[in-house]
Amino acid sequence: MLFKRQSSILKKILVCNLTILSSIPKTLTILKLPIMTQPLDKDSQASKPIMDIFQKCYEFTRADEVKAAGFYPYFRAIEENEGPVVQIEGRKVIMAGSNNYLGLTAHPKVKEAAVRAVEKYGTGCSGSRYLTGTLDLHNELESRLAKYMGKESCLLFSTGYQTAQGIIPTIVQRGEYLITDKDNHACIVAGYMMAKGLFAEIVRYKHNDIEDLERVISKLPLHVGKLLVTDGVFSTSGEIVNLPDLIKVTKKYNARVVVDDAHAIGVIGKGGRGTASHYGLENEVDLTFGTFSKTFASLGGFVVGNERVINYLKHQSPALIFSASPTPASVAAALAALDILEKEPERITKLIHNADRMRKGFKEAGFKIIEGQSAVVPVIVGDDMLAFKFWRELFDAGVFVNAFISPGVPPGLQMMRTSYMATHENHHLDRILEIFSKAGKNLGII
Ligand SMILES: Cc1ncc(COP(=O)(O)O)c(C=O)c1O
Repeated sequence: MLFKRQSSILKKILVCNLTILSSIPKTLTILKLPIMTQPLDKDSQASKPIMDIFQKCYEFTRADEVKAAGFYPYFRAIEENEGPVVQIEGRKVIMAGSNNYLGLTAHPKVKEAAVRAVEKYGTGCSGSRYLTGTLDLHNELESRLAKYMGKESCLLFSTGYQTAQGIIPTIVQRGEYLITDKDNHACIVAGYMMAKGLFAEIVRYKHNDIEDLERVISKLPLHVGKLLVTDGVFSTSGEIVNLPDLIKVTKKYNARVVVDDAHAIGVIGKGGRGTASHYGLENEVDLTFGTFSKTFASLGGFVVGNERVINYLKHQSPALIFSASPTPASVAAALAALDILEKEPERITKLIHNADRMRKGFKEAGFKIIEGQSAVVPVIVGDDMLAFKFWRELFDAGVFVNAFISPGVPPGLQMMRTSYMATHENHHLDRILEIFSKAGKNLGII
């Protein structure tokens, strides 16, 4: 009974949080509405209650209720982190929801590089790249990444999210077109909403649907500049974008292509070089951006591409110019992770082997999954309540995964988003499958 009540509270808060997320564009659209220019009519105002803009915050108590019920799934503090195993609330659990794809956050060389950087440069840069925040380390990482990705130039940002905001509204300006997959990551949405605020035109097409892309793009004026942005590996489903067909369409209709390879670099492509490399289309993608928060075991973002375009971003992008540069420790850790990525490609093979093994194991156990070739393996549950219950059982039994419910995912696709690391060993994977199977049977999912 208590469980049922807890579940209903939990559902409310999850739905609320996801609704807030999915309503971000609407909120920003509201910001764009013209500000009232008529003088206020004092008499009609007098009868209206005076609102405190913080009222909504005071009234938002659902998180507290769920916490009080002991059933709050968010912000679970990790007390120790070895990679595949973490400690939460004094208990060791297998981590099957992290994007630490190559397991490098715990690698001695990566940790040592971060410590050495702090000793040499201190803890922060205290300025933007543009002014006092450029270290020789930033320049070194930029040239190393450009070389690794086979591109002319690279620019670092402070996060991957910020990188999208740094590229999109800087490139796509008034009257120009931004074309976007409906399932693109939130950082792309934030980027195009900024562009929209600057009077760019936004055009969305159905997820990974090239026919729909052609339908929408063919209606746009051929002569006007267009930028298409897509995830390379979609973060929720783990699917790889249909880049070959997408490129054919963008070439036909005069659109440049940007790929967000946050979940692709270090995972797919030759030596982990991402989506374009996966398809042998390295020369067809104009800009590729990524993050250091996944494969690179650190924090920060980057974009690679043509030197003139990167130079333009370097001098025009507010997200770069008005924000402090990535810390010495973050850059040094990412550099050390890049060294390992280049020298130890067998880690990528192991990562994909692990994910494939889990896809096979889940299917054999009777679970429905989304097929793919990346490190993300979604296990479909198909119902919000069932997803919460399943998550709880898995966590209690010793596996930490991410529960995604609607409207964050379409109804019917509620899932446990599982993801793997090169440092998961067979015994971890077997245990995950064992726990999933037991909980899945208990709840009638399989
Ligand atoms: C597809 C995608 N792009 C960009 C980002 C943002 O990266 P960062 O964590 O560096 O802000 C993420 C992070 O979750 C992501 O999944």
